[in-house]
Amino acid sequence: MKILGIETSCDETAAAVVEDGRKILSNVLASSSSIQSKSGGIIPEIAAREHIASIIPVIKQSLFQASLTGKNASSGYIDNTKLIEWAQQNIDAIAVTAGPGLIGCLLVGVEAAKALSYAWTKPIIPVVHTLAHLYSNWLVEKPPPKMPVVVLTVSGGHTDLLLMRNHGRFQILGSTRDDTAGEAFDKIARMLELPFPGGPQIQKLAKSGDLKTLVLPRPLLNNSDLDFSFSGLKTGAIKEIKTGRYEKNDVAASVQDAICDVLVRKTLKAVEKFKARTVLLAGGVAANTYLRDLLIKRSPIPVEIPPINLCTDNAAFVASYAYFNYHPILWKKINAESDTSSILQRYAVVETTESKIR
Ligand code: KG4
Ligand code: ZN
Repeated sequence: MKILGIETSCDETAAAVVEDGRKILSNVLASSSSIQSKSGGIIPEIAAREHIASIIPVIKQSLFQASLTGKNASSGYIDNTKLIEWAQQNIDAIAVTAGPGLIGCLLVGVEAAKALSYAWTKPIIPVVHTLAHLYSNWLVEKPPPKMPVVVLTVSGGHTDLLLMRNHGRFQILGSTRDDTAGEAFDKIARMLELPFPGGPQIQKLAKSGDLKTLVLPRPLLNNSDLDFSFSGLKTGAIKEIKTGRYEKNDVAASVQDAICDVLVRKTLKAVEKFKARTVLLAGGVAANTYLRDLLIKRSPIPVEIPPINLCTDNAAFVASYAYFNYHPILWKKINAESDTSSILQRYAVVETTESKIR
């Protein structure tokens, strides 16, 4: 079964074709992050406008690349009529991120997917982005992770701990109560006058810094629940930066250590509590080598981290999620939802949901 996935929840316009949930036939992405970098963060209105400009070319390119699979040609002129013919004959269903995310951005992908579903009379599956992230682990050429799995999804948009007992059996264990880990990296980096996105810049500077320089708060570390909070840590770091007493690389090393320490400890608490057999890491912050190494070093069970282009937002994991959680609904009934709790209640079977998830 070939599913066309569409993703526009944040600043990436993405479309992909995935066969049987695991084989990527195409994975196309246009990002507005370089435009956003000038403003030091994502401006939803600009991201939405960029989606409008990119959505059709990105979908066309992903169908075109998928149609070439197994053939010698790798590029060339796209004949619209032939492409539509190919899609009508070969695409079995359409999957689209319905939320959570920026509402103006989500709408672009959702409306495009609904139009295609109607025009091509293909089933359509609404996808919950937070859960779809997990499926980057099904897109690598390895045996699927042993369940139950605990997943830490960390990016600019999320800091979520999830438990997956099987496809369709997800449990949200915890989430951030305020800033995400990616936001904490980005906001502290901005105070250090580093360009956006700040996470990779902090990682680079931290290499030559002393992580013991700043003593930063590690909020909610000893709480009984599995929620996160990064605003105290962020404010603590910003206060120290303002004193002008510390070198940037020492601040970067201390911040990176504090954020990653909290992430790893909470994840391992979840592993122990739910007797997980695999830990998965997802989201843009999974690119952080200090976080990866710390998790691998401390984890008593295998840690799986897909290549970073699959960890960050893409449409291949949207298509994969839809294959393993195949619940098509009438195109008219799909609406974009920015809020996590509402989208989970509406479109996903989740055993427990938290009201504060971002
Ligand atoms: O998943 P992603 O590309 O986009 C969403 O936010 O959905 O994640 C971007 C986030 C940014 O906050 C960026 O600073 C962070 O991931 N990030 C990193 C690293 N690479 C990206 N944070 C820490 N270390 C990195 N190496
Ligand atoms: Zn994401």
